[in-house]
Amino acid sequence: MRAYHKHLEVWALLLFFMRTCWSVPQRCEPGDEFLGSCSSTTQEETPACTEMNLGYCNEMDYSRTIFPNILGHRSRFEAESGAEYLLLSVIHGLLNGECSPEIRLVGCSVLAPPCREDKVVKPCRSSCEALRKDCSHAFEAIDMAWPYFLDCDRFFASEEEGCFDPLARLRARQELALSSLSPEEPSTIIQFTYTSNAQMYSLLKRTAAKCSHISHVYSIGRSTEGRDLLVIEFTDNPGQHELLEPEIKLVGNMHGNEVLGRQLLIYLAQYLCSEYLLGNQRIQTIINTTRIHILASMNPDGYELAASEVEDSNDPELNNQEGHLLNGWTNGRTNAQNIDLNRNFPDLTSILYRSRRSRHFRTDHIPIPDAYWFGKVAPETYAVMKWVRSLPFVQSASLHGGELVVSYPFDFSKHPNEERMFSPTPDEQMFKQLARTYADAHATMSNNDTERCGASFYRTRGIINGAQWYSFAGGMSDFNYLHTNCMEITVELGCDKFPSEAELYPEWKRNKEALLSFLESVHRGIKGVVKDSDGNGIKGASVSVRGIRKDVTTAEDGDYWRLLNSGTHIMTATAKGYSRVSKRVSLPHNMNKAGRVDFVLQKLPVEPDIDDHLFPMVDTWERFDPYNQFERHGDPDVAEGEVEREEKPWWWNYFSQSGFSPPNWLLRNV
Ligand SMILES: *[C@@H]1O[C@H](CO)[C@@H](O)[C@H](O)[C@H]1NC(C)=O
Ligand SMILES: *[C@@H]1O[C@H](CO)[C@@H](O)[C@H](O)[C@H]1NC(C)=O
Ligand SMILES: [Zn+2]
Repeated sequence: MRAYHKHLEVWALLLFFMRTCWSVPQRCEPGDEFLGSCSSTTQEETPACTEMNLGYCNEMDYSRTIFPNILGHRSRFEAESGAEYLLLSVIHGLLNGECSPEIRLVGCSVLAPPCREDKVVKPCRSSCEALRKDCSHAFEAIDMAWPYFLDCDRFFASEEEGCFDPLARLRARQELALSSLSPEEPSTIIQFTYTSNAQMYSLLKRTAAKCSHISHVYSIGRSTEGRDLLVIEFTDNPGQHELLEPEIKLVGNMHGNEVLGRQLLIYLAQYLCSEYLLGNQRIQTIINTTRIHILASMNPDGYELAASEVEDSNDPELNNQEGHLLNGWTNGRTNAQNIDLNRNFPDLTSILYRSRRSRHFRTDHIPIPDAYWFGKVAPETYAVMKWVRSLPFVQSASLHGGELVVSYPFDFSKHPNEERMFSPTPDEQMFKQLARTYADAHATMSNNDTERCGASFYRTRGIINGAQWYSFAGGMSDFNYLHTNCMEITVELGCDKFPSEAELYPEWKRNKEALLSFLESVHRGIKGVVKDSDGNGIKGASVSVRGIRKDVTTAEDGDYWRLLNSGTHIMTATAKGYSRVSKRVSLPHNMNKAGRVDFVLQKLPVEPDIDDHLFPMVDTWERFDPYNQFERHGDPDVAEGEVEREEKPWWWNYFSQSGFSPPNWLLRNV
C-alpha cells in the first residue's frame, strides 16, 4: 500500500527531472558549451580534467572528472541524458531507500570518475563486489537486472592497478556517527509498519544475510502472478535436517486480506536474528535445538490486491466511519485465480470418514486421490503440498484473522449435514494442548470475555475444534494431519483482518510470547530413532501409540517425533521386513524436553506380503501429480505465453517514456 505513494513520488521526481534537464534546445548557440547544456561532439578534444557538474553525483569526495568517462560518454550532456544517470536519480525511490546512497556513489564513480593528471582513476573492484553482494537482492525484489554499468569486472580496477574507493568517505562518516552513540544496552530494533511484497522479500533476505550462520532463505515456488513464496529458516545449521532436531513451520497470509500474521512473522524473523546476535539465551536455545521455517506470505498476490484496496479506503470520499475496522472486505482473500487456498487442498478427511470402519485403513499418510489432480490446483497450494511432504515437520501454525481464537482439526465435519459438529482427530488431547499453548500465552485470547468479533469462545477460553466452529473441506490443517506427521493449528489473531498501522506494535506485544511458546512446545512428547541391528536408521518405519489411531513415520535417518501428553503409553515401532518392538513409556509431568525412546528392529526373513496382495492400493502416498496435471494446467505460458512475457515490470514506464531508447539492460532474463 505504501509502495503506491512511493511510485507517485518517483514519478514526480522524474517529471521534474525531465523538465529541468531534457527540455534543452537541440541546437547549440556559441558559448552554450560553458553552461554545459550542449553537447560538443563535433570537436575532437584531448581528454582533460573538468569540473564535475552532475547534480546527483555531488556527494563524491572529488570535484574534477573527465570525459569520455568509463562508459564512453563524451560529454557531461551525454552522461546526463543517458539511462544510467536517470536510473541513479530515481534508484532511491525504486528500491525504497535500500542501498542508498551507496548504489548512487558507486554508479557515479563510473559515470563521473575522478580525474588525476588528465587521466581517469577507476573505482575499486572490491567496492563494487561488496555492493553487489549487499544489494543485488534489492534489484531482484523489483525484478530489475543488475545494472550493466556496475559490472565489477568490466568497469572497475584492482588495488594493484590503482583504484579509489567511492565509499570511503561514507564509511568514515558512518563510523564516526556510530562511535558517538552512547554505549547503551543493545536491543532489537524493528520498524512496526506494513511491508509491501518487495519490501518483505528484501527484508527477509537482509535478515538472513545478517544472520547467515543461523539463517537462510529459500523459495518453495511461485504464486499465480509469479511472486516468490519465500521461506526464511532459522536453526544452528541452516539448510539441512539434523538427526532428532524437530522441524516446525509458521505460515502467514494464506488469505491475502488477513495480514496481521504476515507482519508478525516478518517481525519474528527480525527478532530471532537480532536477539540471537545479542546473546538472548532463550532465543539461542530455541534456535540451537529447533529448525524453524517461516512462510510469511502464502498468498502475496492476494495481499497486493487487499493492500491496494486499503489504500483506496484511505480516501475520505470512499471511507465510511469505521475505516480500517471495516471487516467486510473479501478482496484479496483468494489467490489471483479466485481460489480460496484453504479450500483447495485434497479433501482427505472425507476419505477417512468413508473408510475408517475398514480394518486395514490407516489414519496417517493418506494418499492424494488421483481425481484431485483433475480439479483446479492453485500454484500456491501445490508449492505448499510439495513443501510439507519434503521435510519432517512436527508441528505448524497457520495465522489468519477475523476472529480471536485458535482452532484445531478436524475442520471438516464428520457428518455431511452438520455444519457445526465436534469432529475430533485421534490426537484430540494433544491438539487441545497445542491450541492452549498459543491461546494461554497470548495477552487476551483466553480471557473470560464473552462477545468478541461475533462468536463467543469464553467457555473454552479461546480454543475450539474447527468443525464445531464451522465446517469446511479442503483445508490445509486437515491435509497436514492426514497426509503427513505434522500437526497444524489455525490461529485467528483478531477481529480486524487489516488493522491500522498503529496497531502493529501492540499486536506484536500481544503475540510475541505466544509465538515463542509455540516454538518451544515442539520439544514435547517423545522422540527417538528406529534402527536396524547394525545401528542404521530405518526410513519410513511406523511408530504407534496404543489408544491413538494415528501413527507417525520416521524420517530419512530413522528419527521420529511423537507429540504426547504426560502419562504412561505403550509405543510400538514397525517397519516392512522387520520385527515389531513395543515399549512401555512413562512420560512425567512438566517435562521441558522430549523424552528419548529408540527402537532396534530385527530383520525378518523375506516373505510375500499377503496384505499387499489382497488389498492393492490404487493411490499410494508417493504418487504426487502423477499425470503432470499441474504442470500442464498450471503453466500459463503455453497459450498466452507471448502476452505474458511481453508484460513489463511496473517501473518500466519511468524509463520508456523519457524519450530515449528503452534500456533493455534493466530487464531480467532478456
Ligand atoms: C548456541 O550455539 C552456539 C554455537 O554453537 C553457542 O555459541 C551458544 O552458546 C549456544 N547458546 C545456547 C544458549 O545454547
Ligand atoms: C467466566 O465468565 C462466565 C460468564 O460470565 C462465568 O460464569 C464464569 O464463572 C467466569 N469464569 C471465571 C474463571 O471467571
Ligand atoms: Zn483466513
